[in-house]
Amino acid sequence: MNTENVRPVTRCRVCGARDWQEVVSFGEVPLANAFLEPAASYEHEPAYPLGVVSCRSCRLMSVTHVVDPEVLYRTYSYVTSDSETITRHMEFVASVCRERGRLAPGDLVVELGSNTGQQLAAFARDGARVLGVDPALNLAAVANERGIRTLPEFFDPSCAEAVRDEHGPARLILGRHVFAHIDDLTGVLAGVRALLAPDGVFAIEVPYAVDLLEKHAFDTIYHEHLSYFLVRTLDTLFTRHGLRLFDVERLAIHGGSLLVLVGRPEARHPVTDIVGELIAAEERADLGSDIGYEEFVRGVRGVREDLPALVRTLVAEGSRVAGYGASAKGTTILNICGLGPTEVSYCTDTTVLKQDKVLPGTHIPVRSPDHARADPPDVYLMLAWNYADEILRKEADFLRGGGRFILPFPKPTIVSADSVR
Ligand code: TMP
Ligand code: ZN
Repeated sequence: MNTENVRPVTRCRVCGARDWQEVVSFGEVPLANAFLEPAASYEHEPAYPLGVVSCRSCRLMSVTHVVDPEVLYRTYSYVTSDSETITRHMEFVASVCRERGRLAPGDLVVELGSNTGQQLAAFARDGARVLGVDPALNLAAVANERGIRTLPEFFDPSCAEAVRDEHGPARLILGRHVFAHIDDLTGVLAGVRALLAPDGVFAIEVPYAVDLLEKHAFDTIYHEHLSYFLVRTLDTLFTRHGLRLFDVERLAIHGGSLLVLVGRPEARHPVTDIVGELIAAEERADLGSDIGYEEFVRGVRGVREDLPALVRTLVAEGSRVAGYGASAKGTTILNICGLGPTEVSYCTDTTVLKQDKVLPGTHIPVRSPDHARADPPDVYLMLAWNYADEILRKEADFLRGGGRFILPFPKPTIVSADSVR
């Protein structure tokens, strides 16, 4: 086993308990975004243990092993996509935050994990002062070039104080799909308390554990995603750190996520009914006890058996199968299901950074959409299923020409032109 740059989780990062329920375990899996040059030697490709446990005290779902963030994030190949779905979603997030945070022109908006600055640009267009904080040196450089000032740092209390000294307090601190990647929640939340204006809002977007469980979407489980949150767990977390969760919204983005709004208790943001309703629904689904996770375990086992069997049957019948979207989810499901280049000829992806590389672990080549259109498969395995609606619309011609898609969750299903209508 690779023991460098990785450590097993012992204490719960939310409540400190050490009593874990084992939920699933996938063996050793390479890092989901560690794309390789095609000419590279694959002999020493690192792989790390991957699995999920659930804290019997606060019901945080956590990965079993934490990989050093310096390894994961200093050079990062995940670039926020400029898909329709994401662009529309970012406008939506900006509008919710503007309204609920009562933002006025000139207010400071700080985004953690700001990637190439696309979300902050939506706030800047509206007159906010914006500042990104992102440890990926390659991405911070891109953001700075487009005029979104970005510090190439991990956010912690000293970073927060430096920002506050230079720019004043933040009316909004935002973290879209970064919060679940953070191991030291104590340090980050101390930073948030140091930087947030007295009546400011801290907004986070995280994958919702309930969606993961209901959809059996185990491809969301990879080393970058340390935490899978229930609302009850987030509520516990913020209370422990002197903050208050006051509103939450369920979103379809990334396979099912939560937009969570948090403030200082003194600011007395009214707590919306939906917070209590979601916590009650989690309780009714037995997610406070071990039995609530059993159906997920069965569902994962089903997909792990049925998906490779379906793909192999199609290939045996003479169909050519390719992957749609070389997403981190996609590299994960292929590795976990043991599907390689014999079954999946290539993966098509719009991200230039990924094109002409090969996927971690499986070494399936990544091709541009132009290449894929010139040499289409018979069947696409929908790896970026979180954009399924958009992709099925975009690929109407492929479907009309007799092409099919496999949707992997909650159980593998084939979609053709007839079923899309
Ligand atoms: P994400 O789920 O992490 O945003 O990754 C989605 C991946 O899918 C990303 O690498 C871009 C790719 N993609 C396409 O190749 N074509 C598309 O139409 C869409 C929506 C995404
Ligand atoms: Zn816990």
